[in-house]
Amino acid sequence: MTDTPLNIPMEKIPQHVAMIMDGNGRWALQRGLPRLAGHKAGTENLRRVIRATVEFGVKYLTIYAFSTENWGRPPEEVQGLMFILQDVIDRELDELNKQGVQLRHIGRLERLDPKIQKKVLHAIELTKHNDRMILNVAFNYGGRDEIVNAVQHIISDGIPAEDVTDELINQYLYTAGVPDPDLIIRTSGELRVSNFLIWQAAYSEWYITPTYWPDFDKDEYRRALEAFANRDRRYGKVSSGELQESNA
Ligand code: FPP
Repeated sequence: MTDTPLNIPMEKIPQHVAMIMDGNGRWALQRGLPRLAGHKAGTENLRRVIRATVEFGVKYLTIYAFSTENWGRPPEEVQGLMFILQDVIDRELDELNKQGVQLRHIGRLERLDPKIQKKVLHAIELTKHNDRMILNVAFNYGGRDEIVNAVQHIISDGIPAEDVTDELINQYLYTAGVPDPDLIIRTSGELRVSNFLIWQAAYSEWYITPTYWPDFDKDEYRRALEAFANRDRRYGKVSSGELQESNA
């Protein structure tokens, strides 16, 4: 068995971790700062979490940066988050590229400002051959919207009803080709799915922490991965241990 810096066996490291980066607003409020200061601190933390993901050997990371519902926030916050996305691309793209990170986007890109679309497409193009870690940025993403979009395309492609299977639907989702998340981490203690990867999360394990996103550090990430390594994933069946006992 090969041990990683995490001290968990390689085969117990999740292949795909998804994160709901929640609590930026409350982090700022606690400090008497505007909400956008929370998102900026959250962005700094994201940089650290991406590095840790590469270091831990997790192959896919999906982050929930802007939901289809977030348009309902005050206009200055929406504008601020749009600015952060562009700023992250401007400042971090070279470094991410050097680290071997491939950037992908999930969500409705065509509904964003054309200038933002152009930057996102450039980042995707530049990093498309990197394979050390795949970073899916969910921006203007909603799980229901993703399913609606998939169904619309299945119908417009003239697929007969009897050909519609789990695998076919997977191919029409924004995450086509990406394995389902093994572990979903949600910060700030909320016990909700919030329209995130609702199809793909069917058998994901959850790790929910009260820590606000800007404070979710490498040690806690490590604890989340260690907790995952100790889970017994049964996928609706019984555990292999129980099967062996009943066959004995
Ligand atoms: C939820 O916290 C967080 C968001 C809606 C935005 C997450 C964005 C970042 C971490 C910045 C990185 C962004 C990009 C584009 C790469 P909240 O504001 O709902 O917190 P609250 O529940 O405490 O109000």
